[in-house]
Amino acid sequence: MTMSELRPPSPPRRHLLSIRDLDRADVERILDTARALTASLQREVKKLPTLRGRTVVNLFYESSTRTLASFELAAKRLSADTMSLRSAGSSVDKGESLKDTALTLAAYDPDVIIVRHPSIGAPWLVARYTGAHVVNAGDGKHQHPTQALLDLHTMREVLGRLEGLQVAIVGDVLHSRVARSLVEALGLVGAEALLVGPPTLLPRGIEALGCAVSTDIGDIADADVVYVLRMQAERMGPGEAFVPSLREYTALYGIGPDRVRSGQVVMHPGPMNRGIEIDARVADSDAALVTDQVRSGLVVRMAILYDLLTVAPVEAPVHAGMA
Ligand code: CP
Repeated sequence: MTMSELRPPSPPRRHLLSIRDLDRADVERILDTARALTASLQREVKKLPTLRGRTVVNLFYESSTRTLASFELAAKRLSADTMSLRSAGSSVDKGESLKDTALTLAAYDPDVIIVRHPSIGAPWLVARYTGAHVVNAGDGKHQHPTQALLDLHTMREVLGRLEGLQVAIVGDVLHSRVARSLVEALGLVGAEALLVGPPTLLPRGIEALGCAVSTDIGDIADADVVYVLRMQAERMGPGEAFVPSLREYTALYGIGPDRVRSGQVVMHPGPMNRGIEIDARVADSDAALVTDQVRSGLVVRMAILYDLLTVAPVEAPVHAGMA
């Protein structure tokens, strides 16, 4: 018998790289945990000992306010040690590759690495070169699963249900990782997504994710939730024009008070471009859930860290004939 046969097999490491890593039961468990954690944040002493002795690293190659702040605070509220590294000011400035940065951080033996990167797939690379649980905090225009989970939590807490909700996602779908993750997450919980925008900002074949698509802004009238996307100028190349002008885009697709009917709620992942995709009168109205989303970000990210580090991985099926 060899040494490796004596050693019990290590359980598979769990990551949150994409909404496709989750099934409906996973989503419900994370949202239930977030709901339970909300009560803990109302106490005078907000810190829980749950992740004492664990280490959470934030590795951010792109700007962030909400995601970085909430992951850092979430880890601290659970008593984990945290370290945040932004590409600017780190050895990335000197040309260090993502692989070498991952190997360097892995030497400190972190339990979780949270990665934001402009390139699609970067968090998968970090998962390959470290022994940590990896969370995708946004990779290019591909996935932003923790945003989708906090959005589901916000909808469930404010509207009381997810099943059967109709969510119209409006704007720059082409460059939006938020839209891709949210459509898939809504599908998992039995809600419906409609993507609305100018033809140039609706990727061909996006219906395959399980959503309806329209270029008619009037189609948002039936939705329970109007989810507004930011125009992502930073993902458009120099000289690339997807709309004739921002003024025309605002006139045709901007969400002003005239486009929100009574009873609808309005969401936006932030940062908002007031006066472009969303009118300030809507952003500051009672219909807007933007601050609720930011608050949800903290408890949902606490729930995600808790889930990755404490919930046992699903056991591999035992095949007939195996002891
Ligand atoms: N919604 C979101 O990801 O915001 P940040 O870019 O501020 O993290």
